[in-house]
Amino acid sequence: MRYAAITGWGMAVPERVMTNAELERMVDTSDEWIVSRTGIKERHVVGPGDSTTSLSVAAARQALERAGLKATDIDLIIVGTCTPDQFLVSQACLVQAELGGNAGAFDLGAACSGFVYALATGNQFIQSGLYNRVLVIGADTLTRFVDYTDRTTCVLFGDGAGAVVLEATEEPRGLLSTVLGADGAGNKHLYIPGWGAFVPESAGIFPEYRPYLQMNGNEVFRFAVRVMGDAAAEAVEKAGLDFSDIGMLIPHQANARIIEAAARRLDLPKDKVWINLDRFGNTSAATIPIALCEVEASGKLTEGENLVFVAFGGGLAWAAGVVRWGTAGVQRKITSTHASNGHVAAAGA
Ligand code: ACO
Repeated sequence: MRYAAITGWGMAVPERVMTNAELERMVDTSDEWIVSRTGIKERHVVGPGDSTTSLSVAAARQALERAGLKATDIDLIIVGTCTPDQFLVSQACLVQAELGGNAGAFDLGAACSGFVYALATGNQFIQSGLYNRVLVIGADTLTRFVDYTDRTTCVLFGDGAGAVVLEATEEPRGLLSTVLGADGAGNKHLYIPGWGAFVPESAGIFPEYRPYLQMNGNEVFRFAVRVMGDAAAEAVEKAGLDFSDIGMLIPHQANARIIEAAARRLDLPKDKVWINLDRFGNTSAATIPIALCEVEASGKLTEGENLVFVAFGGGLAWAAGVVRWGTAGVQRKITSTHASNGHVAAAGA
């Protein structure tokens, strides 16, 4: 049986920090309201020099460096994003243009669930034996699509990217179970109108469409509380584990109240739930890989530790999985299928 261990990880956020105090000067809101209703204190937002590409590339370089690999060692790049810098070409190709190599490259659209969907997809390519090394990125710059006169949405989002390198192993590491779901009928509860071919700018009706993120917060909240608990529990069961086997829940970071409600349902103590949205807000597809980097940096991860990733968002879509940390059994003498120079990575993990 082949598995896909996480052998590298990285994250990047823009330098510019937007505090709640700054938002108080822009819309009718208060630090007290934002913190008590969401848990968010500040978020990083893109500046003129930042893009989904620049953040993805920075996160990917870190992940590759940690894995001890070059871009030419990678067989496939998958970027989970709903805010690509361009629609043609893919975000993954823009990232590859900076990193180098000739790996297969494509995007995956599942909004805030994009990273976990992309992880599940990359995992499949490795489990099937088709590829040995996959770079999975979750990246979004939703603040570019936020209306900074709409207090109900503009306080929630930040920008960022996270990346992991997956490598084949015979040991049970990486994604042990996968739960993917969607309720397309709920697409109007959270969406950005107008930027796709569906309503081309050239149609001349663009201004009416307000090309900003639209959200029915209460509906999304109820949906999120339900699916976070259900999907996480299903992922744990599918992995043949129970919650006493789980070292850390790494949830999508949208609202602290949603995360706390899910944790209560799963009967998880606070120290087993990672929350960092106070500093980053909701970075969409980037929340889980960014949180993973923080959990790793905190020293809480040991070989064989079980983690639960669970995400929800626009679609409405959700995704969860149990991830077993560690690199046991990773073979470093695998020749990349796409390495044009026939590169063989150094032996020894
Ligand atoms: N500052 C002050 N008051 C505000 C603000 C604000 N920023 N935003 C809304 N309010 C007001 C409302 O106008 C309302 O006032 P009213 O009672 O006079 O009408 C009041 O606060 C309560 O509004 P609610 O919407 O009921 O507030 P709630 O407690 O539900 O919190 C929130 C709103 C934070 C949006 C919550 O519903 C939520 O987090 N929903 C989920 C959002 C989410 O998870 N999105 C995920 C996106 S993932 C992706 O795919 C991008």
